[in-house]
Amino acid sequence: MSSLVDEFPLIEGLRYLNHAAVAPWPRRAALAVRAFAEQNMTVGARDYPLWLKTEQSLRERLKRLLNAPSTADIALLKNTSEALSMVAFGLDWKPGDQVVISDEELPSNRVVWEALQPQGVEVIQISLRGTDPEAALLAACSARTRLMSISAVQYASGLRLDLARLGEGCEKRGVLFCIDAIQQIGALPFDVQESRCAFAMADGHKWMLGPEGLAVFYCRRDMRQALKLHEFGWHMLEHAGDYERSAWEPARSARRFECGSPNMLGAMGLEASLSLLEEVGMDQVGAALEARVSHLSAELTAVPGARLLSPSDSARRAGIVTFAVDGWDNAELFERLKAEQIVCALRGGGVRLSPHFYTPPTIIEQTLAVIRNL
Ligand SMILES: Cc1ncc(COP(=O)(O)O)c(C=O)c1O
Repeated sequence: MSSLVDEFPLIEGLRYLNHAAVAPWPRRAALAVRAFAEQNMTVGARDYPLWLKTEQSLRERLKRLLNAPSTADIALLKNTSEALSMVAFGLDWKPGDQVVISDEELPSNRVVWEALQPQGVEVIQISLRGTDPEAALLAACSARTRLMSISAVQYASGLRLDLARLGEGCEKRGVLFCIDAIQQIGALPFDVQESRCAFAMADGHKWMLGPEGLAVFYCRRDMRQALKLHEFGWHMLEHAGDYERSAWEPARSARRFECGSPNMLGAMGLEASLSLLEEVGMDQVGAALEARVSHLSAELTAVPGARLLSPSDSARRAGIVTFAVDGWDNAELFERLKAEQIVCALRGGGVRLSPHFYTPPTIIEQTLAVIRNL
């Protein structure tokens, strides 16, 4: 494997701690996209069958990354929000049905359920701030609850939930479990079977290190037919490519959720990015990320006036470290860090730092030095 320094040739002086927003691409992804552009320019789509092979390889990588039983359980969609919409507007709701979410979801995992209000669906928002957030979520499930939709890791606080416990609790209660996994997949191991989810989704541009606009949507086999389709086209047909055929049916696989031509450009990039994660291995990726997050959190806690807003317990976090500093307005603090070439985000009542497994320890030390000297 090429060295990580070679894979991430970020410009000198840049401290990139914003993987929870949009990540840099590894060199191999940039080269794959460059080669794809070159091909398009010189021979067009003459070698389309080879592109399809790369796309198939992407599906296989995603299957392994999610531990999905089959590539037939996976669709490639535009983004997390589109996949959530597929679920929300695919299920057959009855007036009075309830959906349980938390009260700190990114709008994508809230408005999509609130948009079902005309169908009589009620959204219950639960606080995760108590000592046992999983118990609070499960206690909110009533006989009317059809689905729980939750972020594996909260985008602002960085709180990570025990997905296996939630999945088991949902199963016992007959509640469908839907995971917005964008802040976990690629950061830590993730397993659709262990979490017993019916649906999971994540765009590739954060922890998976891919381009924006290409997301994985996992739909458990037994739920595939249950989702009503709202998008139709040549690509989602069982006999895609047989253009002469007048009788049709949706693909038996999750390709039924992909109406038309694929995002081949995105596939080139994401396939290459995931090849790096697979070479390193998700256990290694997770351990290296945790080492960085643990160090960053501990050192921040020791800075006089700094307050950690994200969990300090490793079982409760993934790659997000959010903090505030007494006497500093968050927006001013963000601007100050930006002036020091620290790429981060203003979120959750503080500043959010999000390294990844490859982030050089020196970058973390330099960032800490800036914060200590505020
Ligand atoms: C938890 C969470 N869900 C959803 C999204 C939005 O994802 P997408 O743009 O892929 O719809 C984000 C992006 O920040 C996020 O953090």
